[in-house]
Amino acid sequence: MTIRAIVRGIGHYLPDRVVPNSELEQSLDTTDAWIRARSGIERRHIAADGQCTSDLATRAARAALHNGGLEPGDIDAIVLATSTADLTFPSVATMVQAELGMTRGFAFDVQAVCAGFIFALSNANALIVSGQAERVLVIGAETFSHIMDWSDRSTCVLFGDGAGALVLEAQQGAGTPQDRGILSTDLHSDGRYRDILYVDGGVGTRSTGYLRMQGKEVFRHAVEKLAKTAHAAVRKAGLDDADVDWIVPHQANYRIIKATAQKMGHPMKDVIVTVQDHGNTSAASIPLALSVGVAEGKIKQGELVVTEAIGGGLAWGAVALRW
Ligand code: UT7
Repeated sequence: MTIRAIVRGIGHYLPDRVVPNSELEQSLDTTDAWIRARSGIERRHIAADGQCTSDLATRAARAALHNGGLEPGDIDAIVLATSTADLTFPSVATMVQAELGMTRGFAFDVQAVCAGFIFALSNANALIVSGQAERVLVIGAETFSHIMDWSDRSTCVLFGDGAGALVLEAQQGAGTPQDRGILSTDLHSDGRYRDILYVDGGVGTRSTGYLRMQGKEVFRHAVEKLAKTAHAAVRKAGLDDADVDWIVPHQANYRIIKATAQKMGHPMKDVIVTVQDHGNTSAASIPLALSVGVAEGKIKQGELVVTEAIGGGLAWGAVALRW
């Protein structure tokens, strides 16, 4: 018998304020047509003044617990992926722990930028299969609006705020690819590419800083690396790309999402796409897409899901799981 980390509950939260591309046309030298054509983005949610990542994360966590019929006291650990923590420390995960009224267990943040949720899932899976935790709340939450240079049209039109969460729970499996739960993970990073996507502030500069990106370069790496890592995860699970029911990609750019699906031999009807409504929400984009995919009745129990992402670092990876 093998211990598997299965998804017990899922949920998400998006701030109330929706900013359509037309609103950005008012303050920037940009057009709705350019943003849609280059990225597929039509609108994004933006956090209210004073609303921080921990607030979005807590709401998503409550939604996931409710969906799984669980209480905060049922959770052993929180693993939270973010690059936009409320403060330098403590971790957002411990803030969520306190907000939920959870007084036992442990909580920590994972920082792998847009690939953060993949790394968080992998960490949470390791906690479960090694017997250190039975139920782990895995959260991806971001307020990228706080690190946008709102005068830089090449970046600020692309990002949005949001949070998604799921509960992983230990379950006995047979050790075959037919088991429910996480079947494999595939993680990578290459710090030589730190300069193509970074924030120009932090503790070292005593400022928060703004996101800076060489979009074309990141695009090139994404198209080259995402299908490879997704394929590697599927192969490690003992399966083929054709066995995949749903591709749930990081939602950065519709053109990247489509190119990756094509390389994996899948039509777009097999892909969960939310980039038009959420923009790029970094580590929150995958749990948001998973939650929307489940809420819309697309992703169903027993189906094979592969999820993949790339972001600053560069850091990238994929997870294959049976829902
Ligand atoms: O989540 C982490 C991973 N991030 C990504 O995966 C993002 C990857 N990159 C991308 O998605 C795309 O590269 C972008 C959407 C950022 C840009 O698309 P692109 O096709 O690579 O365009 P570009 O950067 O080459 O810019 C083309 C032109 C430039 O003008 P010139 O130099 O050709 O005259 C830009 O100045 O578009 C101009 N431009 C804009 N025009 C109108 C850049 N931003 C805008 C804008 N509105 N907002």
